[in-house]
Amino acid sequence: MQTTLVNEIETGFVERRRSSMPSAPASVEETGLDFPFLIELLTKTLFIRGQLKLLDLVTHTRLPLVVLEPLLAFMRSKQMCEASRSSGAETAISYNLTELGSARAEDYLRKSQYVGPAPVSLTAYIDQVKQQSIANMHVSREQLSEVFTGLVVNQRILTQFGAAMNSGRAIFVYGPAGSGKTFIAEHLAGLLTGNVAIPHAILVDNEVIQVFDPLTHVPAFSPERSQRNGAPSDSGGLVLDRRRMSDQRWIMCNRPVIKTGGELTLRMLDLDFDENARFYQAPPQVKANNGLLIIDDLGRQLAPATDIMNRWIVPLDRRVDYLSLHTGKKFMLPFDVIVVFSTNLSPTKLADDAFLRRLGYKIYVGALSEDEYAVITRQVCEELQIPFTEQGFKYLLHGLHEKYGKPLFACIPRDILEQVRDFARFENVPAEMSSDLLDWAWGNYFTHD
Ligand SMILES: Nc1ncnc2c1ncn2[C@@H]1O[C@H](COP(=O)(O)OP(=O)(O)O)[C@@H](O)[C@H]1O
Ligand SMILES: [Mg+2]
Repeated sequence: MQTTLVNEIETGFVERRRSSMPSAPASVEETGLDFPFLIELLTKTLFIRGQLKLLDLVTHTRLPLVVLEPLLAFMRSKQMCEASRSSGAETAISYNLTELGSARAEDYLRKSQYVGPAPVSLTAYIDQVKQQSIANMHVSREQLSEVFTGLVVNQRILTQFGAAMNSGRAIFVYGPAGSGKTFIAEHLAGLLTGNVAIPHAILVDNEVIQVFDPLTHVPAFSPERSQRNGAPSDSGGLVLDRRRMSDQRWIMCNRPVIKTGGELTLRMLDLDFDENARFYQAPPQVKANNGLLIIDDLGRQLAPATDIMNRWIVPLDRRVDYLSLHTGKKFMLPFDVIVVFSTNLSPTKLADDAFLRRLGYKIYVGALSEDEYAVITRQVCEELQIPFTEQGFKYLLHGLHEKYGKPLFACIPRDILEQVRDFARFENVPAEMSSDLLDWAWGNYFTHD
C-alpha cells in the first residue's frame, strides 16, 4: 500500500488524477464569497463548536489559513472573538467567541443554521462542472465487454449502450417487465471513469445549497491518501504548510450515480428548502452532475409519466436546469448528466415525436434467444446449487414457455428456480429441474388469467 502510494507520487499519477481539483483560495477574494458571509460562517462555527484551535477551524470550514487570518483579525478588532495562546506554536492559538460574538452568532443562526465547510461560488461550480463534463468521457468496446462480462446481453444492445454512453445524451430503455432494463442500467455505472470534484455546498444569492451527499458521492481518495498529499488533517504540522494545495471545499469523488424509481415526485426535482434550518439540499439531478441519473420504472410514479418526461425537456435540450430559491429568485445550473430512463411503457405513450427524436438513444430490451436464456438458466442453477439438466431446460422451454405463450424474459429462470429451491427445502427433497417441480413453480409464479 505504502509502496504503491510512493510509486504513484513518483510517477506523478496522483497529481494527474488530482489535476482538475481547484486550487485553494489565496485570499478572501479568491473564495468567491463575501467577507460578511464568511464572518457569519466562522462566528456560527465557533458558537456551535466552542473554543477552537486554528487547525480545527481549517478542518471545519475547509478554508486555508490565508483566508481565515484576516477574518479572525476582523472579528477580534470588533471584539467578537478572543485568542489565547498556550505555547509559542502557531497551531496552539485557540479562538473563542466573546459575549458580543455569541449574540451575533445567534442572529446569524436565525438567518441560516448552515455550519460546515464553506460553500463555493455558483460561478466556480459552473466552471468546474464544465471542466469535468461527462461528455469528455470515453467508453471503449473493451471497457464495455469487461463491465458486462458474465452478463447475458446481446451485441446489438451492448453496442447501442456503448455508443450512447459516449454521446453524453439521454438513453431511453424500454421493454416488457423482467427483460433486464434495470439490471443493464445499473451496470452502466461500471463504465464511468475519471474522478470529479464535488463541492460540499454552493452559495447562490447568499443561500447555501448542500451538494455533497455521503449517501451518493463516493470519495475517490482515502483519508490516508489525502493526508499524504497535503490536505488538512488533525495531525498538526501539515496545516502550516503554506504551499498552494487543492481547495478543500471540494471533494474528489467517483463520477456519481443516482437511481430513482417509483418514489420520484416532481417536487423532488426542485431545491429542497428546510424551513427550520434555512438552507437547501440539491435535487438529485444536481447531485448527479458529471455522472449518471437513472430514472427507473417511469410510469410507476404518482405523477403522470408524461409530466415527469416533460420536466426534462429543457435540461436535456439546453444542458442547463432552472431552479428557484424560496425567495422566488430563479437561477441556472449546468445539467451535465447522462439520464437513463427505463420503462415498461411504449415510448409513444410518454412523449411526442419531437421530444423522442431529441432523446437520442432509444434501446429496446425484449425477450432473450433460447441460447441466451440457457446461459442465464445455467448461471442461476449454479448459484442455487440446482443441477442443470438438458431435459429440464427443454421442459421449461417447450412444456412451459411455448405452451403458455410466455416470452423468454431474463428474470424468469431466477424467479422460477428460486421457487423450486424453496419448495425442495420445505419438503426436504432434492432441488432439481424435474417437470413436477417446474410445473409447481410455474403455476405459483404466473397468475391464471
Ligand atoms: N442480462 C441479464 N443477465 C442475467 N440476469 C439478468 C439479466 N437481465 C435481467 N436479469 C435478471 O432478471 C431480473 C429482473 O431484471 P430487471 O432488470 O429488474 O428487469 P426490468 O427492469 O426490465 O423489469 C434481474 O434482477 C436479474 O436477476
Ligand atoms: Mg426495472
